[in-house]
This record gives sequence, structure tokens and C-alpha cells, in this order.
Amino acid sequence: MDDFVLGISAYYHDAAACLVGKGKIWAAAQEERFTRKKFDESFPEHAIRYCLSEAGITLSEVRAVVFYDKPLLKFERLLETYYHNAPAGFSSFQASMPIWLKDKLFLKTTLQKAFKILDPEAEPPLYFSEHHLSHAASTFYASAFEEAAVLTIDGVGEWATAGIYHGQGTQLKSLVEMKFPDSVGLLYTSFTYFLCFKVNSGEYKLMGLAPYGRPEQARQLRQKMEKELVTLHHDGSVTLHQPYFQYATGLRMIHEKKWEQLWGFPVRSSSEPLNQNHADLALAIQQFTEEAVIRMAKTAKELTGSKNLCLAGGVALNCVATGKLENCGIFENIYTQPASGDAGGALGAALAFSHLYLKTPRLQANGYDALQGSYLGPSFSEKEVENVLLKTGLPFQYFKNLEELVHFTASNLAEGKIIGWVQGRMEWGPRALGNRSILADPRNPKMQSILNLKTKHREDFRPFAPAVPLEYKTAFFESAAPSPYMTTTTLLKAEHRLPVGEQFSQADINTKLQTPKSNLPAITHSDFSARVQTVTPDTNERFWKLLHAFGSITGTPVLVNTSFNVNEEPIVATPADALRCFLSTEIDLLVLGNFVISKP
Ligand SMILES: [Fe+2]
Repeated sequence: MDDFVLGISAYYHDAAACLVGKGKIWAAAQEERFTRKKFDESFPEHAIRYCLSEAGITLSEVRAVVFYDKPLLKFERLLETYYHNAPAGFSSFQASMPIWLKDKLFLKTTLQKAFKILDPEAEPPLYFSEHHLSHAASTFYASAFEEAAVLTIDGVGEWATAGIYHGQGTQLKSLVEMKFPDSVGLLYTSFTYFLCFKVNSGEYKLMGLAPYGRPEQARQLRQKMEKELVTLHHDGSVTLHQPYFQYATGLRMIHEKKWEQLWGFPVRSSSEPLNQNHADLALAIQQFTEEAVIRMAKTAKELTGSKNLCLAGGVALNCVATGKLENCGIFENIYTQPASGDAGGALGAALAFSHLYLKTPRLQANGYDALQGSYLGPSFSEKEVENVLLKTGLPFQYFKNLEELVHFTASNLAEGKIIGWVQGRMEWGPRALGNRSILADPRNPKMQSILNLKTKHREDFRPFAPAVPLEYKTAFFESAAPSPYMTTTTLLKAEHRLPVGEQFSQADINTKLQTPKSNLPAITHSDFSARVQTVTPDTNERFWKLLHAFGSITGTPVLVNTSFNVNEEPIVATPADALRCFLSTEIDLLVLGNFVISKP
């Protein structure tokens, strides 16, 4: 029962490691945070070393290493797809074969070699979990539910692209699967590609663009989409009309010419500004995805009869879709594991092995779940901060007293300062949740563009996410449900909105962007939605106190919370990363633990 199990995901996108054992999750982290290479997919050597150090064990003390998917099944899918489509796609077959034959097919040997380098003394047994089982385990076993329906939706694993499971205690049973090439994730990614956002990581930009679309035009585009491109079935499964796609056989996602003919405008180039056509199309695919997710959830309800739902897989990161799903009330409780993408497979692989193979009892859930607020990454010591500060010679203050520190920080935020706030253990998953965050005043009408252009260096159409103490959520937002990981969106309450006129939803992208929408402009999207983080003292007392301190000065206990990084850079991990980012941006103050650092 005390066995340590190390889960890893690697070699595709966003490598990560996670260590579970002795009834808890010890650590989980993505490799990119250590190597500073965004979405680093290489063997997660640094993340593994860190996870082992957190438990104070060596690799020899690990009962098993579990990889998050099965490369042989993936290879089988590749071969069968090429065989069925031959001779189409021969060039991409030729291009991908050497990589498969060298590394991926013989992954076991590759992994064994990598572990040998990491620790020549150890020979941990190596196991492989199925991709969607890893996703399902990552969410159900981390949740506080004794029993739940589980829905996993992504681009593709080995063969599966979506799955419905039923979790009961330590059991997790697969009920139905949707298989490649039909995939809601690959469909969404195809639109991401068409609108020139980065495939496999720019999907959230597409989601952020959707509220600028016009509902009537989006409805017409959806009709066209469902006539030509994809069939949405009653149970939420889809059939993608393959002549429009090339991901099965080519090195591209879509048949560009056919898409251009269908939509009547060209694939967006990187230099082309976003226009109304792009926004309308973004809204159409977003609404289609929401409908597919809701239908799949209904099917999961019918198959399991459960009142609880657990979500994971890349599509579960679509917080607008999960927000809509919450609103329809199919399930009483919905839990989304924050690292729902493939990095989360490391957590799922470790948990699947622990519970299904070793028969370990379920983890102790702490109120909301077993993820401890998702603060599962590396922390830092005061000595480390001192060492970095000595090297830079920057002016700083040290606050012994926490109340004084939060009051000082809150006062500066209320004066309009942008503050880097770095505390304790780093977050697991793609969001900063108040330990590696940039914070600012959401009431300031200029804050969204100041943050976007001067600090984050990103597009100005995307608003920021708010953090609020859980007990104040309903004072500002419509949904009362806890959302500690920013995995769903909700609407800003009517009393905080400004009148925008009845025709506003049909207004164009620029009107929507320029119109003042609320008294919390930096966090209000053009459809009045916000991706809220609720904060509680049991998982993050410092951040909770800071929000309260800001509330007692301003009357609004809400802060802009965005990840501490610049565009295309991983979120900062160490005090040295934070200082570097602080100095290269226009962040006004940096709070590192109890140190407050200013610019000379
Ligand atoms: Fe996946």
C-alpha cells in the first residue's frame, strides 16, 4: 500500500512527471518549467528528479514507472491509417517512419536507457497505460467523488479520441469510445490551424476570439459546417467528412483549398489581422464543440446514472464549454482535473497503476479534491531569494509579518501597480493560481491593454481571468460553484455590467472591443463571461489574505490573475526565472516570498 509510483508523459507534447505513494500525491510538474522550453516534450529528466526529491527517495525505491500511453497501439493506428489511404500520404509516411523506427516504436528501450543515465543503480519496472485511461484516471482518482461518470475528450490517443468511463471506488471501467479519425479535438484544432493559431496550443486563443463572433452569422456558418464538414450524432459522437481533412495522411491538418471554397475566405496568414469573418467562424466551431460536449455528457449520464461527472483530455481545457455544461444541470457536480492536456497523463498513469493494479485505496481528498490546490510543483527557500538578490543588487524590502506584506502589496495594487507574486509551490497544469502569478487591479479600464502590450506581449483581444475569495464569488458572478483551477467560465452579474444596448451581441469585433462593458473591465469578455479562480484559505492562505486586503482597501476583493511569463515562454518556476521576467517587462514590483523587489 505504501508503494511509490512514478507517472510520466513524454515524446509528444508537454512532457511531465508525477509521483504518488503512501496515500498522497507528492509532486507533479511539467518539464518545460525546468528547461524553459515551452511544451518541451523530451524525456522529463528534471521533472522526475524534482518529484523524487520531494519525497526524499531514489529511483530504486520506486515500485513502478508508468508511461501515459501505449506506443505500439499508436504505431498500429499509424500503419492502418496509411494502409487504408494508400497511396495518399506516402510522403508523410516516409517522413514520420524514421522517427518511429528510431525512438517511438522501441520506447521501452529508449526509456530504459534514459533512466539508466538518470540513475545507473536503478532498474525500475516499466509499464504502459492506455492514453484515455490515463486521462480518465487523472480526473476520477484525483476527484473527491466515490462514484462518477468520467468523460475524456481530446485530439487522439492511440485510437480513441473520446471515452466514457464509470468510476466506482478504486474501479474505473471503460463504457464506450469514439475512435480516430473522428475527433472533436482534431476538428477544433483544424479550425485553430485555419485561423493561423498554433496547432496544439493556440486552441485557447480561438476560444477567446469566439465571443467577438456574431450569433446570426455563426448560426449560418454552423449550418454549412454540419452540412459539409462534420456530422454531429445524437450521442455527441462526430463523423468528420474526410475529404476536407489531411491529418490522417498528410503533414497538414486540413485540405486548405476545400476549406477556402467552403468558407469563402483564405486561410489566415500570420501577418493578417483578425477580422469579423475569423471571429464568426470561431464562434461557430466553439458552439459546435459545446453542443458535442453537452451531448456526450448526456450520454455519460444515461450510461452511468451518476450525479457526478469528471472531465479530462485536451478538450476539457475548453473552459467555455465546461461552463456551458455546468449550466445545463445534467450533472449535479462536475470536476475538471486542471492538467487536462497530455501533461496530466503523467498523473493519470501513476494513479491508474496505483489503484487498478496495486489496489491501493483512494487518496484522501482535501475538501475539493486530492490535488492540494494543484500546488504540486517546486518551492524555494529564503536563502535562494537572498542569493539571487545579492547577484542583481536590486533594491528590496523584507517583510517579517505576513499581514504587513499583504497590506503593502494590496495598497500598491490599488494604486495601479502591476505586481509579480511568487509564493510557495508552483502550480500543476497550464494556469497560474496565485503562486506564479502577475496580479493587477481589474477595475482599471486601461489594465487589459497595459498588461497585454507591456507585460504579457500578447494579442489585445483576450481579457484576463479574475481571482476572488470563494465566499465572494456570488457577489460578482452568477455561478456559485467553486472553480479553484479556472476550468470553467461564468457570467458577471448584471449589477456589475454597463448598459451596452440590445444589438451588442451582433456588433462587430471593434465595437465589442472598444465598448466599456463592466466596472471590472480587465476581466470581462465581450459576452460578459469570465474565467474565475475561487480562492480558499485551506489551499492558499496568502493569496486569499491578499484578495481580502485588496477588498478592504477598494471594496472589490477581486484581482486580475494572469500567469507569470511572457508570451511563448513557460511560466516562471524559480526566483531567478521570476527576476529575469520581472526585469524584461514593465511589471512594477516583484513579491518573492516575503521579499518585495522594486526596479531601480
Ligand atoms: Fe490526450
